[in-house]
Amino acid sequence: MSRILIFDTTLRDGEQAPGFSMQPDAKLRMARALAALRVDVIEAGFAASSPADAQSIMDIAAGVDGPIICALARATRPDILASVTALAPAARKRVHVFIGTSPLHREAKLRMSRDQVLQAIRSSIAFARDHFDDVEFSAEDAIRTERDFLAEALSVAAAEGASTLNVPDTVGYTTPEEITDLFRFLDGAVDRSDDVIFSTHCHDDLGMAVANSLAAIRGGARQIECAVNGIGERAGNCALEDVVMALRTRHDFYGLDTNVDSTRIMAASRTLAQITNAPPPRNKAIVGANAFAHESGIHQHGVLQNRATYEIMKPEDIGLVTESIVLGKHSGRHALAARARALGVVLEGEALDRTFVAFKLVADEVGIVDTAKLAALLAEASTHRPQAMWKLTKVDIRSPVSANAWPVARVELDHGERGRVTDIASAPGALDAAFAAVSQMMGTSARVDSLEMQYIAADPDQPAPDGQGANVLVEMTVEVGGEIYAGRARARDILPCCVSAYIDAVSNAQAIQAIAAARVRQEQAA
Ligand code: KIV
Ligand code: ZN
Repeated sequence: MSRILIFDTTLRDGEQAPGFSMQPDAKLRMARALAALRVDVIEAGFAASSPADAQSIMDIAAGVDGPIICALARATRPDILASVTALAPAARKRVHVFIGTSPLHREAKLRMSRDQVLQAIRSSIAFARDHFDDVEFSAEDAIRTERDFLAEALSVAAAEGASTLNVPDTVGYTTPEEITDLFRFLDGAVDRSDDVIFSTHCHDDLGMAVANSLAAIRGGARQIECAVNGIGERAGNCALEDVVMALRTRHDFYGLDTNVDSTRIMAASRTLAQITNAPPPRNKAIVGANAFAHESGIHQHGVLQNRATYEIMKPEDIGLVTESIVLGKHSGRHALAARARALGVVLEGEALDRTFVAFKLVADEVGIVDTAKLAALLAEASTHRPQAMWKLTKVDIRSPVSANAWPVARVELDHGERGRVTDIASAPGALDAAFAAVSQMMGTSARVDSLEMQYIAADPDQPAPDGQGANVLVEMTVEVGGEIYAGRARARDILPCCVSAYIDAVSNAQAIQAIAAARVRQEQAA
């Protein structure tokens, strides 16, 4: 078989990790994102673990079409029966029965002999087959199980009718070479191995979950269990986006396909980040904010000549619409000229040199030079006049005494041409009130789409006079007219920092919309 089945466990193994628990409606939303991604199996939960989990599996079974919907069960009748009820509405369903097989699990956790474990597998798989056509068996802690016993346990499960045999690296202990060898061994040692699909389920404790899953494939596994953004117990599971893109990008090497629509990866990753309030780290492969961003001058020059110099995948392959050239303090003249050209300004010779010097000053001060700041810089270069931009000068929140009244924000902005402007607004939250006041003054209403805050501790070698000196960095996206725009700010205090990031995002929206409108006018005039 040249197709790899993608078994997604974001909603089960992922959800059971600290910090990633999800409400039933959020789980349903995530399951729909997974169906759009076209994973083969969605493990929707562990029905016997709680009534809420059982209900959530049932909601997904009733409301999500396409993938097989699966529920986890221990090797007991009550657990399997809980899965039967929870999965009843599903058009395509699977039960996933597991029991520990390693000496540690048998002796310390289960207090069962080898024979007792084999008997539990025999009776639970037979019982599961009475209720399901599609049964998966997992030998928990398979990697630390004696090979002969593992082969025996999997053979019993296959003989009783399990059609998928999962070999989990429950504690993230194996290595790529070892797991390839193990799957090759199992292919020869498990009875009826031609009638079953071997599956891999790797944890990332040593940072090798993706490498180990791919190595398992080399050994004959044909199902990968994985989770979006790599979430899961402890260090997480194999990241879905990493294995899918590795198989796709290195098709020349693996020669294997998945059914996943990779252009839905970014949407699934964002949905999960939004639901769990846990965005992946900036440098996370495939879905991290930096995964397709180039800031250094040498890289930007290469990418501008030919993207393939520093990019092995296209952002659009994962559904990412991005300006991959990030203008920052490491950017060079080529990148500045290219971004200016995209805004309709040709920068050459002395004008480029002058603008580049001004650009570096701004970049050193604010880190990333976004579209609004770049447009202002370019306008300054051609008019020789400082450009007017909105800046926060004061924000003051009055919190109500009565529980029913809303906070009121009084915000003062400074604008190069209009001078100081003040407005007030109220909203159910103090931040929303401040954003509303800003929108009234800037003339653009925006909906905050995401807000990420980082606490940047003070440098112990440079003590501030007040003994603190820490900063916050806020990165925000807002939606204006159906489009998403980004903004950022750095400040000592959280409230002014959020308001400044909002001003930056709305300024970017206005600058980009003004450029688009000018382009349309030019085209109409031509
Ligand atoms: O890591 C593990 O062993 C598991 C099993 C329940 C499949 O998550
Ligand atoms: Zn697991």
